[in-house]
Amino acid sequence: MNNMLVTGGSGFIGSNFIRFIFEKTDFAGKIINLDSLTYAGNPDNLRDIAASHPDRYVFEHGDICNAEQLEEIYEKHQIDTICHFAAESHVDRSILGPGAFVQTNVIGTFNLLELARATKDRLVLFHHVSTDEVFGSLGDDGLFREDTAYSPISPYSASKAASDHFVRAYHETYGIPITISNCSNNYGPYQFPEKLIPLMILNAEAGKQLPVYGDGSNIRDWLYVEDHCDAIWTIMTKGKHGRTYNVGGDNELPNLEVVHQICDILDRIRPADKKRRDLITFVKDRPGHDWRYAIDFSRIKDELGWEPKETFQTGFEKTVRWYLDNTEWIERIRSGTYNEWLKQQYGEFSK
Ligand code: NAD
Ligand code: TYD
Repeated sequence: MNNMLVTGGSGFIGSNFIRFIFEKTDFAGKIINLDSLTYAGNPDNLRDIAASHPDRYVFEHGDICNAEQLEEIYEKHQIDTICHFAAESHVDRSILGPGAFVQTNVIGTFNLLELARATKDRLVLFHHVSTDEVFGSLGDDGLFREDTAYSPISPYSASKAASDHFVRAYHETYGIPITISNCSNNYGPYQFPEKLIPLMILNAEAGKQLPVYGDGSNIRDWLYVEDHCDAIWTIMTKGKHGRTYNVGGDNELPNLEVVHQICDILDRIRPADKKRRDLITFVKDRPGHDWRYAIDFSRIKDELGWEPKETFQTGFEKTVRWYLDNTEWIERIRSGTYNEWLKQQYGEFSK
């Protein structure tokens, strides 16, 4: 691996991944971060990395939906490895406007696969970053395994499922060296505050309402983002081509419990007049709201030796502190279209 294309490297997980590669691995090549900088992409996330690695980190402002532009960038850097994060990633946005999800997640992935096919002789690996949401929803029992049938519910998960199928098809049909990871919900630094955990931290700190969908009993399995980055790199360096790996945190929690924990951490480290739990407001449920996600990650654990390092307690506290400490990053987001989004979101969903 010499010239690694990271798509969506200015987003939440992509930027954590690039940081992880530079700070925690022995990768000695170049990283080309290709990102179209949607509302979720933020060059601030990697400003320090760009400054400290001017020869090994390159940013390309480009769109994976633009096949011609993509090819130009791909050839300019003689890409031999792809780690594909770029996506529209938020379920609620996919309910309000699914079109962009089909474009980026399906057509954009197809464009990348076509380049991989055309350069198969030099390609070391195409790693596709996907989600456990492709498996649909669990009842009270059971875990998603790699052989669980796909049953996506939201337009987001349907678009990710389609992209996974294309990636596998390109391996089977054209022999492209691929690996896929299907991971549970991530949390940690640099997550755009439309997702549950950063939204709750920022609202709770500002004394605003904490909108919990339905009765807050839906369950997610939470993984600290650096553990996910470590899992992706483990798969990229040790995984078997053509193989899928489930990645999870072994941290199943109902949403209401997550919000309670955030409130209690904030009350402890930054006490306010009012208990943060009093800000919780139950709002109308998300349409097609998946009930429960839980992951069996024994394949990556047994075959590749990966397991999460961070516990829920340690990861949560670190995350809350990061959002409290990084006010400049947050203010820049707030000065963009973020407030408009909140209005649109809770205008539609609130009771
Ligand atoms: P994100 O929304 O924070 O970042 C997505 C990035 O992709 C942004 O930088 C955005 O500008 C870029 N992008 C979007 N459309 C693009 C396009 N057409 N061309 C180029 N760049 C484009 O998302 P995230 O949470 O970091 O998720 C990254 C990947 O991980 C996604 O593929 C997602 O499906 C997957 N995933 C996320 C989670 C999670 O909990 N967040 C869990 C499992 C898997
Ligand atoms: P989210 O962070 O959007 O991730 P995903 O939908 O991909 O799992 O949501 C996590 C859970 O939190 C999900 O069950 C929906 C719920 N949720 C709320 O209750 N309130 C909110 O404001 C948000 C954004 C999510």
